Order: sequence, then C-alpha cells, then structure tokens
Amino acid sequence: MARNITFFWCPVCNSIVELVENGGQSLACCNQSMERMKVKEKGEGSEYHLPELKHRDGLLYVKVGSKPHPQSDDHHIKFIVFVTKQTVRRSDIKSNSMASAVFTDKEHGDVYAYCSLHGLWKTSF
Ligand SMILES: [Fe+2]
Repeated sequence: MARNITFFWCPVCNSIVELVENGGQSLACCNQSMERMKVKEKGEGSEYHLPELKHRDGLLYVKVGSKPHPQSDDHHIKFIVFVTKQTVRRSDIKSNSMASAVFTDKEHGDVYAYCSLHGLWKTSF
C-alpha cells in the first residue's frame, strides 16, 4: 500500500504544494486558503489522463493516457509522481515533451499525473 500524499493548489497564482507531513492546519497562499486537489481514477477524459503502466526488467514505464495528451504551453501534463510505501518520486514534464516517465519498479504503488487543465489523476497497482 502506497503512502497517502496530498497536493494543494492556489487558484490565484497556480502554485502547487505537496503536503509531506500533515500538521493539521490549513495552507494559505495569496491571502486565501489553498484548495486540496481531488484525485480522479476514472470518468470523462480518463483516456487522455490516466497513467498507463508497463513493468519490464525492474523498471516501471509510465505513459499518460491510452490516447496522446496535448502537450501545448497552456494545456499539458506537468508532472508524474510515483508513490510507494516509503518514497515519493516526481518527474517534471515540459510542454511539447512526451507525457511519460521511467522509474525503478516496485511491487505496489500509486502513479499520479497532473494536467494543467484537468487536474490530478491516479493509477494504483
Ligand atoms: Fe488535460
């Protein structure tokens, strides 16, 4: 079972924060509360956003979507995060680059993909 991670987002400046340790207080940015990002695991748009996984030779190959996601400046996958019981690994993705990443494989984990327009998506294994 992967550890639970939480991302927060500022609707004013678009900053994104990953909560490493929850101290029980709310987070604020631009003089207002940050919004906790909802995680989608299915539904409309999943064919463009859900991380697809391949396990091969000790590596975990992640490709976002069964259909290619746009990677334009204003709409693209910005990062992929692989979370296990003890580790959190992030691969940042630039616009006009493939929405994919490679990590050292593990037995279980959660893989998140963040789209600049459609939010956070997750595939677990
Ligand atoms: Fe998208």
